[in-house]
Amino acid sequence: TFFFSNISSDNIDLETVLKECSGALDLFLNNRFMDALALLKPRNQSMYHAMGYSSILVMQAGMTFEPKDMDAAMSASLPIVSICPTSPVVSFVSTEEMHAELCYAEVLLQKAALTFLDESIIGFIKGGMRIRNSYQIYKDCQAMINAMEDKEKLTSTLTHFRGGVSMGIGSFNLMLSLLPSRVLRLMEFLGFSGDREMGLSELRSGAASNSLRSILSTLTLLMFHLYISVILGIGDGDLKEAEALLAPYKNKFPNGALILFYTARIAVLKGNFTFAQEKYLACIASQEEWRQIHHLCYWELMWAYSFEQNWREAYHYANLLSKESKWSQAVYVFQKAAILSMLPEEEVTELGENVVQLFRQVEGLRLKIAGKSIPTEKFAAKKAQRYVSSVPGKLVVPALEMMYVWNGFTVVGKRPELTENILSTLEKTEDQLRNETHPSEYHQDDECLVQLLKGLCLRELGRLVQAEICFNRVISRWSHLTAPHHTLELTACFFAMMNYKDYSMESRLHFRIHAALNTMGSFAAKLPPSRTPA
Ligand SMILES: *[C@@H]1O[C@H](CO)[C@@H](O)[C@H](O)[C@H]1NC(C)=O
Ligand SMILES: *[C@@H]1O[C@H](CO)[C@@H](O)[C@H](O)[C@H]1NC(C)=O
Repeated sequence: TFFFSNISSDNIDLETVLKECSGALDLFLNNRFMDALALLKPRNQSMYHAMGYSSILVMQAGMTFEPKDMDAAMSASLPIVSICPTSPVVSFVSTEEMHAELCYAEVLLQKAALTFLDESIIGFIKGGMRIRNSYQIYKDCQAMINAMEDKEKLTSTLTHFRGGVSMGIGSFNLMLSLLPSRVLRLMEFLGFSGDREMGLSELRSGAASNSLRSILSTLTLLMFHLYISVILGIGDGDLKEAEALLAPYKNKFPNGALILFYTARIAVLKGNFTFAQEKYLACIASQEEWRQIHHLCYWELMWAYSFEQNWREAYHYANLLSKESKWSQAVYVFQKAAILSMLPEEEVTELGENVVQLFRQVEGLRLKIAGKSIPTEKFAAKKAQRYVSSVPGKLVVPALEMMYVWNGFTVVGKRPELTENILSTLEKTEDQLRNETHPSEYHQDDECLVQLLKGLCLRELGRLVQAEICFNRVISRWSHLTAPHHTLELTACFFAMMNYKDYSMESRLHFRIHAALNTMGSFAAKLPPSRTPA
């Protein structure tokens, strides 16, 4: 009936297993990734060791995108399935079996993540089914712990169990809550739940649970507050909570790469770019084993310098990314060219770069995942098209536009003097456009973009009346535009306006936005994903 082998080959008890894994986790957080792997590997027959081992490999595969790492991760996660039960289980017998069930749910998720990276539609469907199974098991586990809590005091192993369940249920709810409401309704129909508040509260209790998986709940919450909410523009992440979550780990792992990384990110979101730059450099210096963490830092450093309009430094990191990282060459090369476009031509030549040639490379560098192109890459390629013709067009302030795409204006808005500097760059560009004697075919487009970005700066500076004038200029112009590549800027503009909440002209604006969107019909479908409202 119940297929389950020993917790470990040499019959050490669950408590010991958990302690050992906790030791491996400490190594991991101290940047000793290989040592952590080595500690987990010899006991590969224990479900927890196997889980930890494959988690690290899956993380590595996700970071490198290397086929050999993917294979390693895939084959590492295979044996666990034969240790953990093979099907959802109705009645549980022992604590060990409960833990096995939980591990199984986690492995299913890991495997799902890997199959999504596989390029086929079959992979996609398989991944979806694994996620569904995994979710079901988490729900079973949750029902079990709920039934139990009144009767029994939680032993230490049950604390670990409960922490794991909170992590899973919390992450599922949080992630699903980010889906567009149409998709979410479908998912709810399929038995999933996407309750954001519930997800956050489960993760909070997971993070506070003092269990093996506390750190995973913590990292998920940090990811939500410091990235997801910022990029999706669903409100400011809760920086206070992020700091509080990170504080105990900062004490325990002052030189841990992940900890330094998040410390720096918090500083970025506070507008403290100098401090952030220091911490990112410290994060890079802290380890050499996982170069991909360096790449994350380069990306962040590129932005931190872009916010300061220190384009030389920003270029330095964009260049490193385009040379070293495999994640998205199209985006990196676009980003590099965009940043170079902000520099005077002499400086670009001095750096030995050619903006036109870089933009022309973008299209050819695009990736496909699960047979689909990546929206950010598609966006970059579309922008870069201007440079393809034999008489190349020119993008105006492309680096600032990308800043908008990644919702960077809300970040730089924390620093009024830097926002003023960006505003003055935009005003110069506005002048240049106005003075053009032979306006290009993109002229209207460019003017709209500049007005939109100006409006954003003014809004961040609290100069709302002027901001509205800019946004209105965009709106009054869009009716003259017909080409599809206009729609992104315009949609962006409407979302910028929707962020107007609390301001006096709110209802008026909403009315206009509504009317305008109606006229524009279906273009919401063309939004880049990062701007899709949840
Ligand atoms: C940046 O953060 C550091 C550390 O928290 C602090 O000492 C420094 O004063 C901050 N700088 C600014 C400009 O806020
Ligand atoms: C644009 O023209 C105005 C007046 O003709 C001039 O003062 C200004 O310097 C020009 N700006 C640029 C950027 O060429």
